[in-house]
Amino acid sequence: MHPKIKLRVFEPKDLERVMYINRTCLPENYPSYFFMDHFKRFPETFLVAEDDGAVVGYIMCRIESDLLNFRPFGIAKKGHTISIAVLPEYRRQGIGYALLSRALEAMTMKYGARECYLEVRVSNTPAVNLYKKLGFEVKKVIRGYYADGEDAYVMVKKLPIR
Ligand SMILES: CC(C)(COP(=O)(O)OP(=O)(O)OC[C@H]1O[C@@H](n2cnc3c(N)ncnc32)[C@H](O)[C@@H]1OP(=O)(O)O)[C@@H](O)C(=O)NCCC(=O)NCCS
Repeated sequence: MHPKIKLRVFEPKDLERVMYINRTCLPENYPSYFFMDHFKRFPETFLVAEDDGAVVGYIMCRIESDLLNFRPFGIAKKGHTISIAVLPEYRRQGIGYALLSRALEAMTMKYGARECYLEVRVSNTPAVNLYKKLGFEVKKVIRGYYADGEDAYVMVKKLPIR
């Protein structure tokens, strides 16, 4: 990634720009309260990439309790990547990789998550390759997951113990 690209946590002033990037890059769009709810509950895993003060990409995640996986010292936690996007003219420069790497680190170090999972369109080769490059594996296929009927891969990566 070019040294002038900086990562930082999302701030409320970024909301409009992040929503613009979301609408530009993905068919799955959300109302502003959805972004703000993730910011309020999981601020460390809502990150933006900036080029000279302009936000050019983001990742938004949440932390979930794995109620099927009780452990001696509490319920296991999972990170769930909800949305990641980089503006087209900034792609293929390592920004997506850096955003997801930093979010995975925060899931582990700040929230104690033991794995991360996400859904991705089976046709989304750039994203699937990004996730594989970071060690995610396809765990299952959910038929007709998306509004237009496309299938999703559920991809999972175990996280190191903090
Ligand atoms: C997926 C996305 C976030 C990747 O962002 P990016 O900044 O371009 O990704 P990076 O430059 O960090 O690429 C990391 C790896 O991802 C894979 N990758 C990225 N773009 C790719 C492409 N167009 N074709 C194939 N593989 C690709 C490669 O393995 C790449 O590593 P390499 O450059 O060493 O080959 C970006 O393409 C995007 O915003 N897409 C639209 C939104 C989207 O689909 N989000 C995911 C929803 S689940």
